[in-house]
Amino acid sequence: MFALRRQLGSRYYQTPILYRTTGQFSVKVLFTTSEAYPLIKTGGLADVSGALPTALRKLKADVRILIPGYPQVLKNVKNLAPLTVLHFIPQVGTVNLLQGEMPDSDTPVYVIKHPALYERDGGPYLDAMGQNWVDNPLRFGVLSHVAAVLSSGFSPLTWKPDVVHCNDWQSGLTPAIMKFFSTEHAKAVFSIHNLAYQGNFADIWVGLLGLPPQSFQPEGVEFYGDLSFLKAGIVYADSIITVSPNYAREIQTPAYAYGMDGLLRAQSAKLHGILNGIDDQQWNPQLDRHLIHSYDHAHLAGKLANKRALQQQLGLDMNTEGPLLAVVSRMAHQKGLDIVLDAASALLQDGAQLAILGSGDPGLEREFTKLAKDHPGRVSIVTGYNETLSHQIMAGADIFLMPSRFEPCGLNQMYGLAYGTPPVVRRTGGLADSVSDTDISTVKGASALKKGISTGFVFDLATTEDFLICVRRAMTLFQDKQAWHQLQQNGMKQELSWTHSAKQYMAIYRKLIKP
Ligand code: ADP
Ligand code: GLC
Repeated sequence: MFALRRQLGSRYYQTPILYRTTGQFSVKVLFTTSEAYPLIKTGGLADVSGALPTALRKLKADVRILIPGYPQVLKNVKNLAPLTVLHFIPQVGTVNLLQGEMPDSDTPVYVIKHPALYERDGGPYLDAMGQNWVDNPLRFGVLSHVAAVLSSGFSPLTWKPDVVHCNDWQSGLTPAIMKFFSTEHAKAVFSIHNLAYQGNFADIWVGLLGLPPQSFQPEGVEFYGDLSFLKAGIVYADSIITVSPNYAREIQTPAYAYGMDGLLRAQSAKLHGILNGIDDQQWNPQLDRHLIHSYDHAHLAGKLANKRALQQQLGLDMNTEGPLLAVVSRMAHQKGLDIVLDAASALLQDGAQLAILGSGDPGLEREFTKLAKDHPGRVSIVTGYNETLSHQIMAGADIFLMPSRFEPCGLNQMYGLAYGTPPVVRRTGGLADSVSDTDISTVKGASALKKGISTGFVFDLATTEDFLICVRRAMTLFQDKQAWHQLQQNGMKQELSWTHSAKQYMAIYRKLIKP
């Protein structure tokens, strides 16, 4: 963009572009993301980027997705065709922009085609050895620049967004680039899905990515001597959203903020917490194409059939009365799976079975593999990423375990609710906002279960002891078939879809673009 400014001279600052939305749509949004289901997925960000644009389009927002052209994206986007060429992108010069549609909806998708940056074996962020790609600042600097160009007066497209909605550090530079390089640009919304991933890189990247030297200061993009993509988003966005109200509070405290609590307190006037929803077409036991037996809250026999099918598939004993406990997760410190490991022997002794699907930390993968070897028929571990199995586990398990140390929102606990698989969660982030504890030992607790309020089990401390007490409470209630059935129904009847949250996003967009 520096080069562009030099070339255009003062015209750069004077382009008289007006952003007005016409026609049936009330707002035009460029939804910039580094992953989106079903194109490419490593975690919940993909689920959100797949479902939220669809929910917003139902509310008449003209949402279009911008995503890097990884091989999976090039393969999965429908009707993909060249659209235009963008020039003056720092370090790379030009990139091609392609346009197509999401495979399962008519949501338009803009794809950045740059083979050297994005077309490689491995994941979107990590190489085949599980290490960060060394050129990630460049790969996502380019994503941020392209989003900024398309949202400024310099875009060659006739479609101009009113709002650019950036997600996580990978597009965090966009609001900063727009602020520094153009006077006419869209409003910027920045969603924090996980504050632990900040995109902090050596200061040399400030110049390499075309940011002005004056941006590198504590009030700007500098964070403990590094260039921070996440901080850039927080400082320069017009509105910051995080994915649950509780996490919005937590990240303003030192325990959850990875050094950014002061910054977030200072920006609290523009910080909002909106709970994620779930895609009720993809995650619905009545419609789920991954399941052998469909079911709903009134026909739970299908769930038992899924349990038997899962036990058979995973090599677990089938003639058991005990509950099948399950984990589907990235194996990272955040998720507290070491706590599950520590509690496992006690839970197995109590008669539980354990099914785990996950990948990440090689140490945890090894420990769970050993546990499964030591307990054939009782414990199953599948490492790697498997979308189909994740649905089958959600349907076949009895209790879902999510003892996260922190959890911005969490989607799996909500999938557990929708699938009649009550979750055991730690009281943190979005887990606390989406799961209500069950304790029928008190009159109030028994009435909460009857009234449809209780949905799962919640504990406070990230310790094996607290976790064990909580899972045992769940296992005890599991033996009371009538109470359990009520609990399953409570979860399955919750309104978990995106409809309500999408309206909250719309309200924020509208407020920002109000003339
Ligand atoms: P996070 O984004 O922090 O990983 P979420 O609960 O928000 O946590 O979302 C995780 C998503 O990734 C869910 O859709 C979950 O089913 C999926 N997932 C996690 N690990 C795996 C895996 N090994 N195989 C398939 N899906 C997985
Ligand atoms: C992140 C968070 C998770 C959240 C997801 C989608 O990956 O870790 O809690 O549900 O983003 O917002």
